[in-house]
Amino acid sequence: MLELTDIDAFYGNSRALQNVNLTVGAGEFLSILGRNGVGKTTLMRSILGLMDRVTGRLTLDGTDISKLRTYQRAKAGIAYVPQGRGILPRFTVRENLTLGTFAARDPNGIEDWVIELFPVLKEFFNRHGGNLSGGQQQQLAIARALLAQPKLILLDEPTEGIQPNIVEQIEAVIVRLNRERGITVILVEQNVAFARRASDRFAFLEKGRVVAKGAIGELSDELIQRHMAV
Ligand SMILES: Nc1ncnc2c1ncn2[C@@H]1O[C@H](COP(=O)(O)OP(=O)(O)OP(=O)(O)O)[C@@H](O)[C@H]1O
Ligand SMILES: [Mg+2]
Repeated sequence: MLELTDIDAFYGNSRALQNVNLTVGAGEFLSILGRNGVGKTTLMRSILGLMDRVTGRLTLDGTDISKLRTYQRAKAGIAYVPQGRGILPRFTVRENLTLGTFAARDPNGIEDWVIELFPVLKEFFNRHGGNLSGGQQQQLAIARALLAQPKLILLDEPTEGIQPNIVEQIEAVIVRLNRERGITVILVEQNVAFARRASDRFAFLEKGRVVAKGAIGELSDELIQRHMAV
Protein backbone atom coordinates (compact mmCIF):
# COMPACT_ATOMS: atom_id res chain seq x y z
CA MET A 1 0.00 0.00 0.00
CA LEU A 2 2.88 2.36 0.79
CA GLU A 3 6.14 2.09 -1.07
CA LEU A 4 9.28 4.16 -0.54
CA THR A 5 11.89 3.88 -3.25
CA ASP A 6 15.36 5.42 -2.96
CA ILE A 7 14.20 8.12 -0.56
CA ASP A 8 16.65 10.83 0.48
CA ALA A 9 15.44 13.61 2.80
CA PHE A 10 17.06 16.92 3.67
CA TYR A 11 17.02 19.62 6.32
CA GLY A 12 18.49 22.47 4.27
CA ASN A 13 21.63 20.96 2.80
CA SER A 14 21.96 18.32 5.46
CA ARG A 15 20.87 14.84 4.36
CA ALA A 16 18.95 13.06 7.12
CA LEU A 17 17.77 10.02 5.13
CA GLN A 18 19.72 8.19 2.52
CA ASN A 19 18.53 5.62 0.00
CA VAL A 20 15.61 4.37 2.07
CA ASN A 21 13.64 1.53 0.51
CA LEU A 22 10.64 0.21 2.41
CA THR A 23 7.23 -1.20 1.65
CA VAL A 24 4.19 -1.75 3.85
CA GLY A 25 1.34 -3.92 2.64
CA ALA A 26 -2.34 -3.14 3.26
CA GLY A 27 -3.24 -4.05 6.83
CA GLU A 28 0.37 -4.63 7.83
CA PHE A 29 2.07 -3.36 10.94
CA LEU A 30 5.65 -2.11 10.50
CA SER A 31 7.85 -0.96 13.39
CA ILE A 32 10.70 1.46 12.78
CA LEU A 33 13.47 0.98 15.34
CA GLY A 34 16.79 2.61 16.07
CA ARG A 35 18.71 4.83 18.44
CA ASN A 36 18.10 8.54 19.01
CA GLY A 37 18.79 10.79 16.06
CA VAL A 38 18.96 8.08 13.37
CA GLY A 39 16.12 9.53 11.28
CA LYS A 40 12.94 7.83 12.52
CA THR A 41 10.93 11.04 12.85
CA THR A 42 12.42 12.30 9.61
CA LEU A 43 11.07 9.20 7.90
CA MET A 44 7.56 9.96 9.20
CA ARG A 45 7.86 13.59 8.13
CA SER A 46 9.02 12.51 4.68
CA ILE A 47 5.99 10.27 4.21
CA LEU A 48 3.77 13.22 5.14
CA GLY A 49 5.51 15.81 3.01
CA LEU A 50 6.74 17.88 5.94
CA MET A 51 10.42 18.01 4.94
CA ASP A 52 12.26 20.78 3.10
CA ARG A 53 13.16 18.38 0.33
CA VAL A 54 12.70 14.69 -0.39
CA THR A 55 13.94 12.86 -3.46
CA GLY A 56 12.97 9.39 -4.62
CA ARG A 57 9.55 7.87 -5.11
CA LEU A 58 6.68 7.50 -2.68
CA THR A 59 3.55 5.66 -3.76
CA LEU A 60 0.29 5.01 -1.92
CA ASP A 61 -1.81 2.21 -3.41
CA GLY A 62 0.18 2.53 -6.61
CA THR A 63 -0.30 6.30 -6.98
CA ASP A 64 2.74 8.56 -6.80
CA ILE A 65 2.11 10.94 -3.90
CA SER A 66 5.58 12.46 -3.72
CA LYS A 67 4.44 15.76 -5.24
CA LEU A 68 1.32 16.08 -3.09
CA ARG A 69 1.01 18.62 -0.29
CA THR A 70 0.64 17.40 3.26
CA TYR A 71 -3.13 18.07 3.40
CA GLN A 72 -3.59 16.14 0.18
CA ARG A 73 -1.70 13.19 1.66
CA ALA A 74 -3.97 13.40 4.69
CA LYS A 75 -7.04 13.32 2.44
CA ALA A 76 -5.51 10.38 0.61
CA GLY A 77 -5.65 8.47 3.90
CA ILE A 78 -2.42 9.03 5.83
CA ALA A 79 -2.73 10.23 9.44
CA TYR A 80 0.04 11.21 11.81
CA VAL A 81 0.45 11.10 15.56
CA PRO A 82 3.60 13.16 16.03
CA GLN A 83 6.30 12.62 18.62
CA GLY A 84 5.35 14.94 21.48
CA ARG A 85 1.66 14.60 20.47
CA GLY A 86 1.07 18.01 18.87
CA ILE A 87 -2.03 18.83 20.91
CA LEU A 88 -3.14 22.46 20.71
CA PRO A 89 -3.07 23.44 24.39
CA ARG A 90 -5.52 26.36 24.17
CA PHE A 91 -8.06 24.36 22.19
CA THR A 92 -10.54 22.16 24.02
CA VAL A 93 -10.54 18.41 23.59
CA ARG A 94 -13.56 18.78 21.31
CA GLU A 95 -11.80 21.41 19.20
CA ASN A 96 -8.66 19.29 18.93
CA LEU A 97 -10.82 16.38 17.77
CA THR A 98 -12.66 18.55 15.29
CA LEU A 99 -9.33 19.43 13.68
CA GLY A 100 -8.90 15.74 12.87
CA THR A 101 -12.27 15.57 11.13
CA PHE A 102 -11.18 18.28 8.67
CA ALA A 103 -8.81 15.83 7.03
CA ALA A 104 -11.48 13.16 6.56
CA ARG A 105 -12.37 12.21 3.02
CA ASP A 106 -15.98 11.66 4.04
CA PRO A 107 -16.45 14.04 7.00
CA ASN A 108 -18.64 12.53 9.64
CA GLY A 109 -17.95 14.61 12.74
CA ILE A 110 -16.59 13.13 15.95
CA GLU A 111 -17.40 9.47 15.41
CA ASP A 112 -18.59 7.48 18.42
CA TRP A 113 -16.35 4.50 17.87
CA VAL A 114 -13.28 6.70 18.24
CA ILE A 115 -14.46 8.18 21.53
CA GLU A 116 -15.35 4.71 22.78
CA LEU A 117 -11.70 3.73 22.39
CA PHE A 118 -10.75 6.47 24.87
CA PRO A 119 -13.69 7.12 27.22
CA VAL A 120 -11.67 9.60 29.27
CA LEU A 121 -11.86 12.06 26.36
CA LYS A 122 -15.62 12.31 26.63
CA GLU A 123 -15.34 13.30 30.28
CA PHE A 124 -12.93 16.07 29.35
CA PHE A 125 -14.60 17.28 26.15
CA ASN A 126 -14.62 20.92 27.22
CA ARG A 127 -11.26 20.98 28.93
CA HIS A 128 -8.26 22.63 27.31
CA GLY A 129 -5.88 20.13 25.71
CA GLY A 130 -3.03 21.67 27.69
CA ASN A 131 -4.70 20.66 30.95
CA LEU A 132 -4.69 16.95 30.17
CA SER A 133 -2.01 14.58 31.44
CA GLY A 134 0.61 13.34 29.00
CA GLY A 135 -1.18 10.03 28.61
CA GLN A 136 -4.52 11.72 27.99
CA GLN A 137 -2.93 14.02 25.41
CA GLN A 138 -1.52 10.99 23.65
CA GLN A 139 -4.97 9.40 23.59
CA LEU A 140 -6.37 12.65 22.22
CA ALA A 141 -3.68 12.75 19.53
CA ILE A 142 -4.51 9.21 18.43
CA ALA A 143 -8.25 9.94 18.45
CA ARG A 144 -7.71 13.10 16.42
CA ALA A 145 -5.70 11.12 13.85
CA LEU A 146 -8.42 8.45 13.60
CA LEU A 147 -11.12 11.05 12.93
CA ALA A 148 -9.29 11.79 9.69
CA GLN A 149 -10.43 8.29 8.60
CA PRO A 150 -6.94 7.02 7.73
CA LYS A 151 -6.09 3.81 5.97
CA LEU A 152 -2.51 4.30 7.17
CA ILE A 153 -1.57 5.73 10.56
CA LEU A 154 1.94 6.85 11.49
CA LEU A 155 2.66 6.75 15.22
CA ASP A 156 5.89 8.34 16.45
CA GLU A 157 6.83 6.99 19.90
CA PRO A 158 3.25 7.02 21.21
CA THR A 159 4.21 5.68 24.64
CA GLU A 160 7.25 7.88 25.25
CA GLY A 161 7.14 9.47 28.70
CA ILE A 162 3.72 8.09 29.65
CA GLN A 163 2.79 6.34 32.89
CA PRO A 164 2.74 2.52 32.60
CA ASN A 165 -1.00 1.91 33.16
CA ILE A 166 -1.91 4.24 30.28
CA VAL A 167 0.86 2.78 28.12
CA GLU A 168 -0.92 -0.57 28.30
CA GLN A 169 -4.22 0.95 27.22
CA ILE A 170 -2.62 2.81 24.35
CA GLU A 171 -0.77 -0.28 23.16
CA ALA A 172 -3.98 -2.32 23.26
CA VAL A 173 -5.80 0.29 21.18
CA ILE A 174 -3.01 0.42 18.59
CA VAL A 175 -3.15 -3.36 18.18
CA ARG A 176 -6.95 -3.30 17.82
CA LEU A 177 -6.83 -0.56 15.19
CA ASN A 178 -4.62 -2.79 13.12
CA ARG A 179 -6.24 -6.18 13.75
CA GLU A 180 -9.91 -5.23 14.03
CA ARG A 181 -10.12 -2.14 11.85
CA GLY A 182 -7.52 -3.20 9.30
CA ILE A 183 -5.69 0.13 9.53
CA THR A 184 -2.12 -0.14 8.28
CA VAL A 185 0.35 0.99 10.95
CA ILE A 186 3.86 2.39 10.86
CA LEU A 187 5.09 2.68 14.44
CA VAL A 188 8.29 4.28 15.72
CA GLU A 189 9.06 2.58 19.00
CA GLN A 190 11.81 2.23 21.59
CA ASN A 191 9.92 -0.52 23.40
CA VAL A 192 11.06 -3.67 21.62
CA ALA A 193 8.69 -5.92 23.54
CA PHE A 194 5.70 -3.99 22.21
CA ALA A 195 7.11 -3.89 18.69
CA ARG A 196 7.51 -7.69 18.84
CA ARG A 197 3.96 -8.23 20.08
CA ALA A 198 2.29 -5.89 17.65
CA SER A 199 4.25 -5.93 14.40
CA ASP A 200 4.40 -8.02 11.28
CA ARG A 201 7.68 -6.49 10.17
CA PHE A 202 10.50 -4.27 11.42
CA ALA A 203 13.16 -1.98 10.01
CA PHE A 204 16.20 -0.57 11.77
CA LEU A 205 17.55 2.84 10.87
CA GLU A 206 21.10 3.95 11.51
CA LYS A 207 22.49 7.30 10.35
CA GLY A 208 19.55 7.80 8.03
CA ARG A 209 19.82 4.40 6.33
CA VAL A 210 17.85 1.18 6.64
CA VAL A 211 20.46 -1.22 8.01
CA ALA A 212 18.22 -4.22 8.70
CA LYS A 213 14.63 -5.21 7.98
CA GLY A 214 12.52 -8.31 7.95
CA ALA A 215 9.64 -10.27 9.39
CA ILE A 216 9.21 -9.65 13.10
CA GLY A 217 10.19 -13.25 13.85
CA GLU A 218 13.66 -12.38 12.53
CA LEU A 219 14.15 -9.59 15.06
CA SER A 220 16.92 -11.24 17.06
CA ASP A 221 18.45 -10.07 20.32
CA GLU A 222 21.69 -9.80 18.41
CA LEU A 223 20.15 -7.27 15.97
CA ILE A 224 18.70 -5.30 18.85
CA GLN A 225 22.05 -5.25 20.59
CA ARG A 226 23.79 -4.09 17.43
CA HIS A 227 21.36 -1.35 16.42
CA MET A 228 19.73 -0.17 19.63
CA ALA A 229 22.15 -0.58 22.53
CA VAL A 230 23.80 2.67 23.52
N1 LIG B 1 14.73 20.59 12.13
C1 LIG B 1 15.93 20.04 11.92
N2 LIG B 1 16.92 20.72 11.31
C2 LIG B 1 18.13 20.14 11.07
N3 LIG B 1 18.45 18.88 11.41
C3 LIG B 1 17.51 18.16 12.03
C4 LIG B 1 16.19 18.69 12.32
N4 LIG B 1 15.48 17.73 12.94
C5 LIG B 1 16.29 16.66 13.03
N5 LIG B 1 17.50 16.90 12.50
C6 LIG B 1 18.63 15.96 12.40
O1 LIG B 1 18.25 14.85 11.59
C7 LIG B 1 18.71 13.63 12.15
C8 LIG B 1 17.55 12.68 12.37
O2 LIG B 1 16.68 13.25 13.34
P1 LIG B 1 15.29 12.56 13.72
O3 LIG B 1 14.55 13.54 14.57
O4 LIG B 1 14.63 12.08 12.49
O5 LIG B 1 15.78 11.32 14.59
P2 LIG B 1 14.95 10.26 15.45
O6 LIG B 1 15.45 8.92 15.06
O7 LIG B 1 13.51 10.54 15.33
O8 LIG B 1 15.45 10.58 16.95
P3 LIG B 1 14.69 10.44 18.36
O9 LIG B 1 14.75 8.98 18.71
O10 LIG B 1 15.51 11.26 19.29
O11 LIG B 1 13.30 10.95 18.20
C9 LIG B 1 19.46 13.99 13.42
O12 LIG B 1 20.84 14.05 13.11
C10 LIG B 1 18.94 15.37 13.77
O13 LIG B 1 19.90 16.11 14.44
MG1 LIG C 1 12.09 11.03 16.68
